[in-house]
Amino acid sequence: MVKILVTGGAGFIGSNFVRYMLDKYPDYEFINLDLLTYCGNLENLSGIEDNPNYTFIKGDICHKSLVHEIMAEMDYVINFAAETHVDRSIEDPEIFIKSNILGTQVLLDAARELGVEKFLQISTDEVYGSLGESGYFREDTPLAANSPYSASKAGADLMVRAYHKTFDLPINITRCSNNYGPYQFPEKLIPLMISNALADEALPVYGDGLNVRDWLHVHDHCRAIDQVLHDGKNGEVYNIGGNNEKKNIDIVKLILKNLGKDESLIKYVKDRPGHDRRYAIDSTKIQTELGWKPKYTFETGIAETIEWYLDNRDWMDKVKSGEYQEYYERMYR
Ligand code: NAD
Ligand code: TYD
Repeated sequence: MVKILVTGGAGFIGSNFVRYMLDKYPDYEFINLDLLTYCGNLENLSGIEDNPNYTFIKGDICHKSLVHEIMAEMDYVINFAAETHVDRSIEDPEIFIKSNILGTQVLLDAARELGVEKFLQISTDEVYGSLGESGYFREDTPLAANSPYSASKAGADLMVRAYHKTFDLPINITRCSNNYGPYQFPEKLIPLMISNALADEALPVYGDGLNVRDWLHVHDHCRAIDQVLHDGKNGEVYNIGGNNEKKNIDIVKLILKNLGKDESLIKYVKDRPGHDRRYAIDSTKIQTELGWKPKYTFETGIAETIEWYLDNRDWMDKVKSGEYQEYYERMYR
């Protein structure tokens, strides 16, 4: 039986991935190691707790002895665990260095010592920095991270590369564009705007709203990770993108339109410091070498996603209580 350690599996992408894999591979066994930080949420995994092929362990990827103990039995490691929000990394970079770089290094050490078959690092297109009006991020684009978040992810990527080059650890790195879909914490653009629109609260748009992101449905990302895990060539980096560039303001307007709300809810606010202007991914490599391509169009994906948040208002209300309330007050007061 194939045994896979998923870290950060209670977050947005990790929980979608665990669901996808349990369904697709009923013979695989999964351990989910997650610290349950403010955005880790066991409700993202409701319905699968009793699956005999799934075990949840609450713990920190920086915890060496725990990581060694868990990884002893594992064939593959997929590292989703990270601090992920750019705005929080601007407020307080330290935890980003700890979880994203040190945590990855602890996992890499254990993977190397225990001889896992593959270490798959889930990274981001943000490590490449910012694009002007033209051009795309390719796998050989130099890393030029601009935020403490993206710098910590770039640091982790380089450690993963170093463990491959120095210690022959079998690895892949995936660098994906912005994801959207169910179970995304409402501090990120799309769920935040849906949540605020539903509550008839202001929709805070940074700067001129013309920054561009390349949006990919989380289920398409999960399919790509699955493909890299099984077929990725040892040591390679794969970019994953939706070929779906959108300006922030257009997304915000689309959400308002879908929900039948007025554009007067839009509020332009002070720009994010160091705000990357444009991300766009060239995903030719994964498309030609591994045969992956996105299935969702943005129109279908966003409509389905809005529907999901409408149907899961309880989930939204719960994650928006507590620590998140204080953070949101600080950010947008
Ligand atoms: P998320 O913030 O929703 O979830 C992160 C998860 O990691 C949470 O469950 C959290 O509890 C856990 N975690 C954090 N620190 C930990 C630690 N020290 N030990 C154990 N668990 C810890 O993030 P996400 O959006 O699901 O992103 C998952 C991964 O994908 C990240 O590595 C991120 O950089 C990458 N990524 C995200 C996007 C995106 O658009 N969301 C795009 C590309 C890449
Ligand atoms: P975000 O979801 O934080 O992802 P990232 O910064 O990692 O791409 O933000 C997506 C875009 O939306 C980014 O250009 C910043 C912008 N944004 C806003 O305009 N207002 C907001 O309240 C948030 C959270 C983001």
